[in-house]
Amino acid sequence: APITSPDITSICKDANSGIGDIVGAVRTRKCCPPSLGKTIKPFVFPTETTVRKRWPAHAGTKKQVDDYRRAIQAMRDLPDDHPHSFVSQAKIHCAYCNGGYTQVDSGFPEIDIQIHNSWLFFPFHRWYLYFYERILGKLINEPSFALPFWKWDDPAGMPIPEMFVAETVDGQPNSLYDVYRDSRHLPPAVVDLDFDGKDKNIPDQQQRACNLATVYRDLVRNGGDTLSFFGGEYVAGDKPVANGAKSVGSVEAGSHTAVHRWVGDTTQPNNEDMGNFYSAGYDPVFYCHHANVDRTWKLWKDLGLPGHVEPTSPDWLNASYVFYDENQELVRVYNKDCVDIGKLKYTFLENSKEVFPWRKSRP
Ligand code: C2O
Repeated sequence: APITSPDITSICKDANSGIGDIVGAVRTRKCCPPSLGKTIKPFVFPTETTVRKRWPAHAGTKKQVDDYRRAIQAMRDLPDDHPHSFVSQAKIHCAYCNGGYTQVDSGFPEIDIQIHNSWLFFPFHRWYLYFYERILGKLINEPSFALPFWKWDDPAGMPIPEMFVAETVDGQPNSLYDVYRDSRHLPPAVVDLDFDGKDKNIPDQQQRACNLATVYRDLVRNGGDTLSFFGGEYVAGDKPVANGAKSVGSVEAGSHTAVHRWVGDTTQPNNEDMGNFYSAGYDPVFYCHHANVDRTWKLWKDLGLPGHVEPTSPDWLNASYVFYDENQELVRVYNKDCVDIGKLKYTFLENSKEVFPWRKSRP
């Protein structure tokens, strides 16, 4: 049977050890969402005609960057216990990843849900960002609002995007800034998509070439079939899959995790923020990174190689999560409804000349 998230507002526990103990937490381990006493509704596809065009974070227009800053600031200005607040949105990751929920609705109340390290990774994060983007757009009353993506698969986009870095902009706090990042990895440092905790200290040109080879590895060589790309099966009754397990999908285990570790601050007790599941959502760059991870799913599909097809098992298609939507309604969403992003009314702006700059970078 598929993994079924419970009613997140009534069945939720504090973040626990789940995947390695959190000691000396810098962020709270109380990650349960606020309860507004609502009942869960079925998801309805958006009916608007506008398609949100997600944009490369290193090449945003002034309007894109300003809207984004304003929207995140509006989120930060909400009271913490509002389901759309910056803190509530960050806690979603913590609750779904650090043992907030159990498989009670699938008949296993003693087993936690972990949406990482398995085939739930891509669809869960797709839904998470879908609602996050719509909430931000609503906060600034901009129906075409779209998230930026950190385009680390393109040599021009490999450093942390500049807009995230300054503490203040025009004398105002920069809503995209986060204090808990590795100070050695701020721009112009080029990300290491194969980061294992140790800086390679190689020339930038060489690092960029390595990164292209890593993207090739994750999207082609190691992701040649459904489960090696998405991650292994994870169904009701399965214990949370451990980090580092063989069944972790190629992008998740590879470039995705490398970026988390590379950005997280190693001088913090749990590599906050990006270096730990429970705290990652507190860094605005998390959502920008994940927008690109989400894009790799599309790129992988668009490569059109044999084997590049989504899972068809009912246990994947019918796995579900519960989120607050942009209207503060609780909705249940299924993996099967996020496969076609056209129906979710967003897309990614691509450089028409060079969609796969790593295509010839076979390691
Ligand atoms: Cu839910 Cu990048 O981790």
